[in-house]
Amino acid sequence: MANFKFAVLPGDGIGPEVMDEALKVLKAACDAEGHTLEYSVYEVGGAGIDKFGKALPESTLEGCRAADAILFGSVGGPKWEHLPPKEQPERAALLPLRKAFKLFANIRPGLLYADLTDASPLKKERIPNGIDIVCMRELTGGIYFGEKKTETLPDGRIQASDTMCYRTDEIIRIADLAARTAMKRSGKLCSIDKANVLETSVLWRKTVTEYVSKNYPQVELRHMYVDNAAMQLARDPNQFDVFVTENMFGDILSDEMAVICGSLGMLCSASLGEAENGCGHKFGLYEPAGGTAPDIAGKNLANPCAQILSAAMMLRYSFGQDALASRIESAVKKAVCGGVRTADIAFGKTPVGTKQMGQAVIENL
Ligand code: IPM
Ligand code: MN
Repeated sequence: MANFKFAVLPGDGIGPEVMDEALKVLKAACDAEGHTLEYSVYEVGGAGIDKFGKALPESTLEGCRAADAILFGSVGGPKWEHLPPKEQPERAALLPLRKAFKLFANIRPGLLYADLTDASPLKKERIPNGIDIVCMRELTGGIYFGEKKTETLPDGRIQASDTMCYRTDEIIRIADLAARTAMKRSGKLCSIDKANVLETSVLWRKTVTEYVSKNYPQVELRHMYVDNAAMQLARDPNQFDVFVTENMFGDILSDEMAVICGSLGMLCSASLGEAENGCGHKFGLYEPAGGTAPDIAGKNLANPCAQILSAAMMLRYSFGQDALASRIESAVKKAVCGGVRTADIAFGKTPVGTKQMGQAVIENL
């Protein structure tokens, strides 16, 4: 029996209603095993701007610091779109959270059940058994966090620059997690870079090769250029099992992976830190891949599965509860494959609401 202490940041749009379902599923799963949940709810994104004038209020940051993990909903919406880019909820909440908690590894499972291949824009014959791959993205380095500058040149033209920068230790820590993730699956790892053009990629490829071959000789490592990877992902996604890449390549490829996996309402993610939390596991932030879907917010229409699966990832990575996480994942799969579907994945079936979907998961636990 254990106590799981986490901060809940529902955010905007459909965030709060899908979060409610995730919390109900977590409680049902944990009650059954005698585990307890200890959480407080904090404002983030537009909700933070409205209440405190900041997308990431100090009180929210404090609450996260006091917790062992963060369960995050989604942020943003038309109400805040007029703000300058730097103050937009997405950027002003997520990037500082990643930096503050050193969340260097972003894990996005690209999972599409065989029963849901209709949701994918890919032809069925390319993915007869669905899709089951994992994207591992470096999250606190590269061009996102390198030196940025906009300057006026002596002749009056304006020039802007962003710097892509990587150190060996930043490459090694993500390579290590990627290799360990690969070993838990098929043992195959593909590292994606642009080593034919970029210095950072040359260092990336050399470092990954040396580190993985020395420390994980069982892992079958291959390398691919990012432009080719984008193409291969659309052609035959299951040729990858686990792929690992730097921050911006991962941002782009993970969106491509999301679209070929069909509904955003089914995709979860984990962003893991370096430090251990009070439970002896990694501190992490867990969030659905999709956005706030303002058009359907508050209407009991959103698919809560991505949020529920993100909560399962939290149990696995931040609280070491692998079996419990798998139980929740199986319950989601059983509910969906048994025909309980929200509108985004209905395909001819009569759609159920957010709450009914959550309830169906609980019944399948
Ligand atoms: C993501 C998002 C963020 C990113 C944005 C909102 C800053 O696109 O999590 O993939 O670019 O990392
Ligand atoms: Mn993105």
